[in-house]
Amino acid sequence: MKKILPIKKLREEISIPGDKSISHRAIMLSSLGDTTVEIENFLAGADCLSTISCMKKMGVDIQIGKKISVTGNGLFGLREPENILDAGNSGTTLRLLLGLTAPQNFLATFTGDDSLRKRPMARVIKPLAEMGASIFGRNDNKNLPITVLKPEKKLHGITYKMPVASAQVKSAIILAALYADSPTTIIEPYPSRNHTEKMLQAFGANIQTSGNEIKILPAEKLTAPPKIIVPGDISSAAYWLVLAAILKNSRVKIKNVGINETRTGIIDVLKSMGAQIEILNVQESGGELSADLQVASSNLRGVEFGDEMIPRLIDEIPALAVAAAFAEGDTVIKDVGELRVKETDRLAAIVEEFNKISPKSFEATENTLTIHGGNKKVFAECKTYADHRMAMALSIFGAAADGVAIDDSECVKISYPNFFEILYI
Ligand code: S3P
Repeated sequence: MKKILPIKKLREEISIPGDKSISHRAIMLSSLGDTTVEIENFLAGADCLSTISCMKKMGVDIQIGKKISVTGNGLFGLREPENILDAGNSGTTLRLLLGLTAPQNFLATFTGDDSLRKRPMARVIKPLAEMGASIFGRNDNKNLPITVLKPEKKLHGITYKMPVASAQVKSAIILAALYADSPTTIIEPYPSRNHTEKMLQAFGANIQTSGNEIKILPAEKLTAPPKIIVPGDISSAAYWLVLAAILKNSRVKIKNVGINETRTGIIDVLKSMGAQIEILNVQESGGELSADLQVASSNLRGVEFGDEMIPRLIDEIPALAVAAAFAEGDTVIKDVGELRVKETDRLAAIVEEFNKISPKSFEATENTLTIHGGNKKVFAECKTYADHRMAMALSIFGAAADGVAIDDSECVKISYPNFFEILYI
């Protein structure tokens, strides 16, 4: 058990680690070029290290120092792994690499940890199979372990209407589509994070986007830039945005945060709740915007949202639920069924554990989370379900209330290794 004490104040300036989604993609795409790429501000969290380990097993030269350097063997230069590829806890590693290995002329078998082995993979295997890929998983959900066979012939382009807005599924199809014999079109219900599209465009791939549609042309080669600078992760900044807004007398500047519009739902919703957030010093690198976020103590009120907002803040809902518990009135978050298939069933986990800190405040149906704000908070012992985002959301909840004890603090290493150093000044 790790005990988090109530805190009065946050530090005035916070630097946050590199974006997890962009770090994964930087490793994967650099592996497909044929020059050396230096990756700055790479997130050395456990998930991105899983991606590095898988790419190394496919013959890519990756050096890990203060910066990461990746030297690929070209778009067609991946080699058959001699052993099983272990994606650990990382859905992004697994789903994107299923897309990348589907068109290769070799066999690859994947596994992962207890959480990842339970997560649904049929959603990504189905479109890849439509392209002609040969992928076998366990049971109807196509759970891990999964084996990808050399396809009988070159994959073909498809038009695929995605049933859920998922950047992981979209990115898997995009990566496979680079190797297909004709163009592929993907239609999303709502736009999900577009880091794969943006980075591939920076690598010279022909990808056109318009509204919810993405068209990918087959590629002959990718030309990597010499350097990729990863912006700070807005999903990690979310904990400080919320904590600074709900603590009294705080004013915090969070430096160098990625503000790609497919990820800034947290800022939009917190602002609509009354949070004082300013976006300063906007910069651009490799098609991705970043900025400093200035946030101050605010009086929050409950709000209602759903639909297209959800993919723009899907990983920030545990943190937002904490903000809602300190707001006046009810907050209703609709269309959040996807939370049930994250690292744990986050809707069930929020209701079970957050209610221990603020009794009778959190309710969920299959697809909706309702939070009754302003109730009394008490010290509680809570479970994280080995989910990094549950651990961090519970920690800021306890820190802003009467403290909390969590059963597993190690899991924050998945996305934010120095989280607790920042929490305690
Ligand atoms: C991610 C996409 C999202 C998100 C995950 C990272 C990505 O998952 O929850 O943490 O890097 O593409 P889905 O694509 O399943 O929504």
